[in-house]
Amino acid sequence: MSNAPTTASFVPLQDGDAVENLSREARRLAPSAGFTANAVVGAAEYAEADADRPAFWARQARELLTWSKDFTQALDWSKPPFAKWFVGGELNAAYNALDRHVENGLGDRVAIYFEGEPGDTRTYTYAQLTEEVKKAANAFESLGVAKGDRVAVYLPMIPEAVITLLACARIGAVHSVVFGGFSADALRSRIEDAEAKLVVTADGTYRRGKPSPLKSAVDEALSKDGHTVQNVVVVKRNGADVDWHGGRDHWWADTVDQASTNHQAVGHDSEHPLYILYTSGTTGKPKGILHTTGGYLTQTAYTHKAVFDLHPDTDVYWCTADVGWVTGHSYVAYAPLINGATQVMYEGTPDSPHQGRWWEIIEKYKVSILYTAPTAIRTFMKWGKDIPAKYDLSSIRVLGSVGEPINPEAWMWYREVIGGNAGKNGERKENPAPIVDTWWQTETGAQMIAPLPGVTATKPGSAQVPLPGIAVDVVDENGASVPDGHGGFLVIREPWPAMLRGIWGDPERFKDTYWSRFEGMYFAGDGAKKDEDGDIWLLGRVDDVMNISGHRLSTTEIESALVSHPAVAEAAVVGAADETTGQAVVAFVILRGDAVDSGDTIIQELRNHVGKEIGPIAKPKTILVVPELPKTRSGKIMRRLLKDVAEGREVGDATTLADNTIMQTITDSLKRRK
Ligand code: WTA
Repeated sequence: MSNAPTTASFVPLQDGDAVENLSREARRLAPSAGFTANAVVGAAEYAEADADRPAFWARQARELLTWSKDFTQALDWSKPPFAKWFVGGELNAAYNALDRHVENGLGDRVAIYFEGEPGDTRTYTYAQLTEEVKKAANAFESLGVAKGDRVAVYLPMIPEAVITLLACARIGAVHSVVFGGFSADALRSRIEDAEAKLVVTADGTYRRGKPSPLKSAVDEALSKDGHTVQNVVVVKRNGADVDWHGGRDHWWADTVDQASTNHQAVGHDSEHPLYILYTSGTTGKPKGILHTTGGYLTQTAYTHKAVFDLHPDTDVYWCTADVGWVTGHSYVAYAPLINGATQVMYEGTPDSPHQGRWWEIIEKYKVSILYTAPTAIRTFMKWGKDIPAKYDLSSIRVLGSVGEPINPEAWMWYREVIGGNAGKNGERKENPAPIVDTWWQTETGAQMIAPLPGVTATKPGSAQVPLPGIAVDVVDENGASVPDGHGGFLVIREPWPAMLRGIWGDPERFKDTYWSRFEGMYFAGDGAKKDEDGDIWLLGRVDDVMNISGHRLSTTEIESALVSHPAVAEAAVVGAADETTGQAVVAFVILRGDAVDSGDTIIQELRNHVGKEIGPIAKPKTILVVPELPKTRSGKIMRRLLKDVAEGREVGDATTLADNTIMQTITDSLKRRK
């Protein structure tokens, strides 16, 4: 399979490029009449939002959320780029996700069906989940956590992750989740930057049938003094032996499980910080993206309802994202619960214990809305359509995609094989489930560009239209809107409720990173084109951020990790097109004069070194030892040329290199090594 036509998406876009050379995807798939007739959101919302954006969002805020104190102003944009939404309002996120549903008689509705990797299961109703969160809130408070304090969370995909996040939100503590695939060093730097007081972790989890540790990384992260952590709460998950630090460490069972189920939720200011989530940017240091309460909850809840056509009393929703990423925050921990939905949560990998595990889960719980990433879809395509065909997927009625551009082949496969399956015996649905390709970022907090399943005639491979109340555009290098049929840079022209409120501790960096490239616009870092109908096609990052299996990684961060190894003099990292993971990390390194080039040994050592510095997810797929790197006269590494090498292409125009024989030297040296 090839990634065409999205191969274009992996080539940095030239400024203001015409897009005639990109292949066109002409298919359009209109929603069925039946789907449209029952859709929760109709086309009228676009016009309503266009007429008065803040008023549209104010209506959503009041309809979707319960405020303990109503707001007086929808949007304060008097000091851009610092926005305030729903000014003067007060609300409690956990009350909105839990207590109010119980008060409204929905206490017996299932909130979470949990499926552990080894096959253990747990079910939480809204009433039970509310009790668990109240207990955790009491326990965290008794450990000295107060409103505004930061709590680092290093947990697997188990219900305690959601319980921890909501307990923090309940007491006004700010959570900072660190994905379990990050190393002790990465965890330490995030704990330090946020000055966390408490860490919540687990002994470990299961990965492909084997126990996988977590607590040991927390111990290592806290082994040196100079941090602010006072307590560590540990969930017993896989029962593995752990080191124990008396006084600091507390089992969840001895603290949370013992705490009182009485806990009164009080309202917090609409702009009270809800969480920090670190993400990779173009520099070596991850940015702590800050989200606040009222606007974030409004837009996540609205989009979850509108884009997935959520009918909370009948749907079973499953988002496969890990809570360590923004998708797991917005569309696992918050929006589904705010909307009173029933959701599935799965701990493990798709191939454990067999490659049909996801389809088995969908059949078992009658999942009706599935939200996942293109990299997973491409993996399933590789495994073959016979595997999902063995299961009854007839419950599925909406399919979502997120995290990276989805190529039309994968889109069609998703629709036909997963969305068109009407039972184990190969029956086909008359109307396969619509696909909603959702573009957004950690920074945007919630979905920004996506079809509405009951309204939009979808095009395979395109996220298409900004959601109601969102002002997106594609501009040329001077910030002028490009005409239909042209490509450029994706920008957001108006503030939106779930927008990041800044970078933790660094307001200047917030302005520089997102608001300085184009006057008065948020620059997302993505290239995009408008087709002849004005629909938007995402073309991938135009900066030094890579997208590996939908996970964001920075080239610079991995380069810094490599050069911190004593054997490395210089390193350059590129994201090379990969059929399954979208992109793969390829590193070019120059070894120090005194380092012994021991071939495979040094390469393995460098991969492990990156794993230790950042985490296993950042380990380069390929490391190539080269004698030199291609640089311009001003010393900038020309990654474009290295990408040509990494993707096995003829090397492009090298005339701006300070020494234009270098590419020849590099390719010769790589040939010799083969
Ligand atoms: C990419 C994940 C194309 C994009 C929610 C963005 C996408 C980055 C899509 C953000 C999509 C996300 N089509 N590209 N539907 N969704 N991206 O912060 O490059 O982990 O800038 O947020 O993923 O990644 P992040």
